[in-house]
Amino acid sequence: EKGGWPSFMDKEIHEDPEAVANTLLGRFDAKGDIVLDEVRIEPEVLRSIDRIVVVACGTASYAGLVARYAIEHWVRIPVEVELAHEFRYRDPILTPRTLVVAISQSGETMDTLMAIRHAREQGSRVLAICNTQGASIPRESDAVLYTHAGPEIAVASTKAFVAQIVAAYLLGLYFAQIKGTMFRDEIHHIVQQLRSMPEKIQWVLDTQADTVNRTATHMVNARSFLFLGRHVGYPVALEGALKLKEIAYTFTEGFAAGELKHGPIALVDAGEPVVVIVPSSRGRSTLHNKVVSGIEEVKARGAYTIVVAEEGDPDAERYADAVFWRPVCSTLLSPLVDVVPLQLFAMDMAMLKGYDVDKPRNLAKSVTVE
Ligand code: BG6
Repeated sequence: EKGGWPSFMDKEIHEDPEAVANTLLGRFDAKGDIVLDEVRIEPEVLRSIDRIVVVACGTASYAGLVARYAIEHWVRIPVEVELAHEFRYRDPILTPRTLVVAISQSGETMDTLMAIRHAREQGSRVLAICNTQGASIPRESDAVLYTHAGPEIAVASTKAFVAQIVAAYLLGLYFAQIKGTMFRDEIHHIVQQLRSMPEKIQWVLDTQADTVNRTATHMVNARSFLFLGRHVGYPVALEGALKLKEIAYTFTEGFAAGELKHGPIALVDAGEPVVVIVPSSRGRSTLHNKVVSGIEEVKARGAYTIVVAEEGDPDAERYADAVFWRPVCSTLLSPLVDVVPLQLFAMDMAMLKGYDVDKPRNLAKSVTVE
């Protein structure tokens, strides 16, 4: 079943490109416009939506956080992302104009299921982004957008995460299309870029795995890791930290790079590994410069810096002890490639420590109790 791969996780990481490609398949008409046939909510209702609330747990919630940057930018409506278990028990404000988007690989996570039941009782529409046909969450939703990542067996989610981002982006672009918040050409341009992502992810898998493995070998005895990122790099940092925690049992914390000086920098000591997601250096954006100054600060305190940066970024070379390169791509799409070396890194660390990467201790693939 593993088709020659040492683990399901290894196989599934290598299916990231396919998961992205398949999730895009069949979602466009001959003119290149987005058609989401499974979203059976009338366009008039969708047009009236003035707020999106994403509910999810774990990795799926980080896919929601990534999508928030894109959807707010494209559609100009507020997007909130909340852990399903927190959402359910705080009497959230929901109206018929709120669209609740439940993201779940299994479609069986009880916390997420309870959250959508609550949302529907309050009169909100619910759309599920799910990888499992006919699971409880899509069954109890008004609409569903399936990710086509294929069955995910390893407990730690990998290919489902990239597919969830793609599905949520398609939803955002669809909203932009029906609400008219973007020009058709702009939408088509982003779709073109999305279509090129499988190739870029493949490039990372083909060219960066050795560096990732060497870095993991070097860092195998580290007791803790800090992950930092800004903008879309922030949820990528959270996901990288979660992966390493889940399967390599290493204490990790992911945080927003801007928070560094408001607390986490106190943890940085000589030899402390810090993983940084660096935004594109093209045009030397403010975003890029701010993240680079964060690297300088931790470096000055002796941190061992591992950075994910765009090919040819001169600052990455200057301040990093190890670099995982990303091919050039637009900022909003960069999480699809940036998470890949972090998935490989967590897997390599767990393998080197002799752990079962597919079945980490204390965790279940889907948690069907509250
Ligand atoms: C956790 C799994 O229990 O549930 C995570 O270990 C997963 O990998 C989370 O991200 C959410 O699961 P699902 O199926 O709702 O996406």
